[in-house]
Amino acid sequence: MSDAIKIPRHVSIVMDGNGRWAKMRGKKRLEGHKAGEKSVRSCTEECVRQGVRYLSLFAFSEENWARPKDEVEGLMTLLAGSIKKETKLFTDNKVRLRVLGNRSRLDPSLNADIAEVEELTKDFERMDLIVFLSYSGKWDILQAAKRFARDAAADPSLIERADLSLFGNYLVTAEIPDPDLIIRTSGEQRISNYLLWQAAYSEFYFTDVLWPDFDGKELLKAFEEYSSRDRRYGKVK
Ligand code: FPP
Repeated sequence: MSDAIKIPRHVSIVMDGNGRWAKMRGKKRLEGHKAGEKSVRSCTEECVRQGVRYLSLFAFSEENWARPKDEVEGLMTLLAGSIKKETKLFTDNKVRLRVLGNRSRLDPSLNADIAEVEELTKDFERMDLIVFLSYSGKWDILQAAKRFARDAAADPSLIERADLSLFGNYLVTAEIPDPDLIIRTSGEQRISNYLLWQAAYSEFYFTDVLWPDFDGKELLKAFEEYSSRDRRYGKVK
């Protein structure tokens, strides 16, 4: 199958629908998030198999901090556990883990666990798994603008020299190419303050499948659809 389809270099997923998946089964929302862990594993493995170079996942937004305290705490515990538990998956598959977002809002012990796995996997080059945690697109652009302003105060020539590439290096995604394909599960069709700058020319794929039911097979359907898209980047072919 992989011969016939175009494989995006960077695939990004807005993992949505865990709460609804749980509700449909009379379970607590956290059970939905737990069920979503196996979709993360299945998609990670499929991306490695297909030769995807960057897989990024929107795991927790800046806005998600406003959810009920027990859900936030449960999610953070789940994420910490999952990152530790999957260390073998990362090392076996030569996957580099990177966690990007407003890390200052994370619990110091979670930050330490993340840093440990990031350090352990930093030389792996088969695939980067990027987990966006406490992330929002507007936050990213603002933090980039603040850091740029500080540097420009010290070196005003930066203002004239700044172009899209130079400014892009102030975003937390510096060095990571923009996503070719953004997938959102659960039937919602919006960007929800995700990669606002980086999604400028991304293709979008929306599916009604809820995140806990999404797996490698569903991912291949998205790649098939992506293969039929004609990407012109605003130009004429
Ligand atoms: C959105 O569903 C999902 C989340 C906010 C959390 C995603 C986290 C995981 C799948 C845990 C594992 C992740 C990693 C990276 C190991 P929702 O709660 O908004 O669902 P709803 O719209 O149906 O309420």
